[in-house]
Amino acid sequence: MPQLLHIDSSADLTTSVSRALTGLFAETWRGLGDGYSVVRRDLHRDPLPHLPDAGLHYAERLRVDGETPDAEAEKLQAELIAEVAAADVVVIGAPMYNWSLPSTLKAWIDYIHVLGTTVPFDTSDRPFAGTPVVVVSSRGNTYAPGTPGEGTDHTVPPLQQVLGVSLGMSVEVVTAELTLADRLAPLAPLAGQAQGSRVAAEESVRALAVALGSRS
Ligand SMILES: Cc1cc2nc3c(=O)[nH]c(=O)nc-3n(C[C@H](O)[C@H](O)[C@H](O)COP(=O)(O)O)c2cc1C
Repeated sequence: MPQLLHIDSSADLTTSVSRALTGLFAETWRGLGDGYSVVRRDLHRDPLPHLPDAGLHYAERLRVDGETPDAEAEKLQAELIAEVAAADVVVIGAPMYNWSLPSTLKAWIDYIHVLGTTVPFDTSDRPFAGTPVVVVSSRGNTYAPGTPGEGTDHTVPPLQQVLGVSLGMSVEVVTAELTLADRLAPLAPLAGQAQGSRVAAEESVRALAVALGSRS
């Protein structure tokens, strides 16, 4: 039974581009067959508390005196980790907020990136290694090579670092740029480019859902 974990973090519940794209991914996934199921985690509608105790960054055996996270927080962390472990594929909506991640998504990262549990430390355990994760990043401006924004995207690189380099997941990135072209007058001349970016992103998420789903 191939299972998709579908995560969103946009605070826009009406016109969000990342929500539309992750939704298209999930719809394409379900369309692959009766057994293709989707588990949903909406980090905006149902936000996680900020990490309440630094001890949660370490497996219990690696904690030092005084690091005694409360049982509820440990239970939530275990649930979030189990959700990723059970997924064949993960899709994450990651809009750019102030050149960075929405704080709701950062909170999720802080729970699931755990030394000695999901990241090898004193053992070689790496339970998420190889799991495909599709990061869908929407942004109002453009950060393409040669533009003033080049090099200032701090949304996608930290996700590639944590999910790919550290957790060993297989990261694919889809971006939709210039989403504010229809809202901010200075970007209006780039409306055609925005439309092209959106169409290309839709094609990419459909193709990735089919390709990754067929392998699951
Ligand atoms: C709090 C906030 C901060 C934002 N910061 C940026 C930014 O730094 N750079 C940018 O290009 N767009 C920025 N935007 C615009 C969003 O990236 C853009 O609207 C994007 O489409 C949001 O994703 P969504 O459509 O899935 O909600 C910001 C929007 C919000 C709400």
